[in-house]
Amino acid sequence: MMQAIAPGRLQLAILASGRGSNFDALCQAIERGELDADVRVLISDIESAPALGKAKSRKIDAVFINPRDFGSRDEYEAELVEVLKSHQVTVVVLAGYMRLVGRILLDAYKHRIVNIHPALLPSFPGLHAQQQAVDYGVKFSGCTVHIVDQGMDTGPIIMQEVVPVLPDDTGDTLADRILAKEHKTYWRSLQLLAQGRIYIEGRKVFIKD
Ligand code: GAR
Repeated sequence: MMQAIAPGRLQLAILASGRGSNFDALCQAIERGELDADVRVLISDIESAPALGKAKSRKIDAVFINPRDFGSRDEYEAELVEVLKSHQVTVVVLAGYMRLVGRILLDAYKHRIVNIHPALLPSFPGLHAQQQAVDYGVKFSGCTVHIVDQGMDTGPIIMQEVVPVLPDDTGDTLADRILAKEHKTYWRSLQLLAQGRIYIEGRKVFIKD
C-alpha cells in the first residue's frame, strides 16, 4: 500500500548555498496563500551566501553550518539533523544546495527531501547544467523537481517543466529562462506534497488528482 508523503501544512527547511531566488519564490507563494507551508529555517553551508541575508530580512531563522568544522560528512549531517529537528521541520527543500546528501540526512528525512535542478533530468546532472545543455545543442531544456536519494540529481521525479533552447542562447540566457520556470514549478510541486497527493513506488512518483 502506497503512503502519501508529508500531507498537511509543510514545515520547511530551505538549504541553499547561494543566491536564494528559489527561497524567495517559495516565501512569496506562501504569502500569496498558494503554498500551504511555513519556512522554519534557512540553512547554508556557505557563510557569504546571499540566501542567509534574504532569510534574515524576512525574519526567518538563518543558520550557517560550516562543513569544515566537522571531521566527516556524517558528523556534519548529524548537526544539520539536530537543527532541523529543533525547528520541527517536516520537509527539507534543497534550493541551490551544492552538496551531495548523505545517509544521515537521508535516513532522518526519508522521501521528505526534495531538490530542484535546472535541466530535464536525467540529462545534464551536476554543475553548470544550463551550459551543458547549450554545449550539447539540445532544442529543449527545463527544470526538474525530484525526491532526493543518494545519487547526484538522480531521485524519483515529481515534476518537470520545459523551455526552448534558442540558437543564440548562452548558459546565462538559458539559465534565466529556466529560473523563471523554477520559481513556479517548485512551489507547485511542494503544494502537491502538502495536499497529500504524492505517492512513491520504486523510482516512480504518482500524483493523485
Ligand atoms: C537554481 O538554478 C537551481 O536549480 C540550481 O541552483 C540554482 C540556485 O539558484 N541547483 C542546482 O544546480 C542543483 N544541482 P537560487 O539560489 O537563486 O535559488
